[in-house]
Amino acid sequence: MMFPGHFPDVRLRRSRRWDWSRRLVREHILTPSDLILPLFVREGSGDPEPVPSMPEVVRHTIAGVVETARQARDLGIPLVAIFPATDPSLKTPEADEALNPDNLVCRTLRALKAELPNLGLMADVALDPYSSHGHDGLVRDGDVANDETVQVLARQAVLQARAGADVIAPSDMMDGRVGAIRKALDAEGFERVIILSYAAKYASAFYGPFRDAVGSKGSLGGASKATYQMDPANGDEALREVALDLGEGADWVMVKPGMPCLDIVRRVKETFAAPTFAYQVSGEYAMLHAAAGHGWLDLDAVVLESLTAFKRAGADGVLTYFALRVARLLNR
Ligand code: PBG
Repeated sequence: MMFPGHFPDVRLRRSRRWDWSRRLVREHILTPSDLILPLFVREGSGDPEPVPSMPEVVRHTIAGVVETARQARDLGIPLVAIFPATDPSLKTPEADEALNPDNLVCRTLRALKAELPNLGLMADVALDPYSSHGHDGLVRDGDVANDETVQVLARQAVLQARAGADVIAPSDMMDGRVGAIRKALDAEGFERVIILSYAAKYASAFYGPFRDAVGSKGSLGGASKATYQMDPANGDEALREVALDLGEGADWVMVKPGMPCLDIVRRVKETFAAPTFAYQVSGEYAMLHAAAGHGWLDLDAVVLESLTAFKRAGADGVLTYFALRVARLLNR
């Protein structure tokens, strides 16, 4: 302890004095290998469609996804995640399109695998891009039915693996889905396909812009996902979710949303020492962009700082809409 009159003999500022000394003692270094790039895909051809609540994010055509994924690969990004903006005419209460082997996601995965065989491909498992009610599962008696939904999710996962997905990412938060998906994948010869479970996924208001991007917001019509996604007030429960998913065969786990959950990232990493990812979600992206758009924040600086904070919290990687921007900065 310092006390008045005592001259400090420990001076932490000494190491901060020079660029070279700061670099030498730096504990966490962000690289393009830490990034997962989410990409939205739509039907048809032509120019990409902007997503109004997510500046610089677009809904690509399949060709546009392939082109952008090529840039990601060239910048050193290991994995891209595909999210479909399904044509509203294809959305049904039973989310039938999820099980169409020629749906938008499956066609996109096939195109990517053919063009970019060494890029990791991730596909989300959940029914919300396909359901007319916008929920992640099948609705029975006014709530999402767990076990019946899990059967559909397992079939959806197999179709995505067959189309070329290397990483299957259940984002639905049904109980027992990881085990069912693992069994279904193995039974079809996909024992090498990785499961990245959205293990601790909160019922968060930060997902709003994503629901604009995939067009599930209107379908959901203000309904809540709180009967399956986690209560943001809970922390211990996240550890139980992660324990269950790892026990059922998840290879990697995700915490979502990101910045509001850095405490959870830290606890998950310290408790399980498994590959741990964080999702810097659409609302976090929109917030930083909006402030930067007003000239209130320096976008590149806050993005780099936020992503480094994920690493400091214990994340092995971050799914972020800033992935391309950041990879370009880091490659400069
Ligand atoms: C769908 C899904 C959501 C996100 C990823 N997968 C939305 C939701 O759960 O409503 C949100 C991602 C984001 O906000 O960036 N199961």
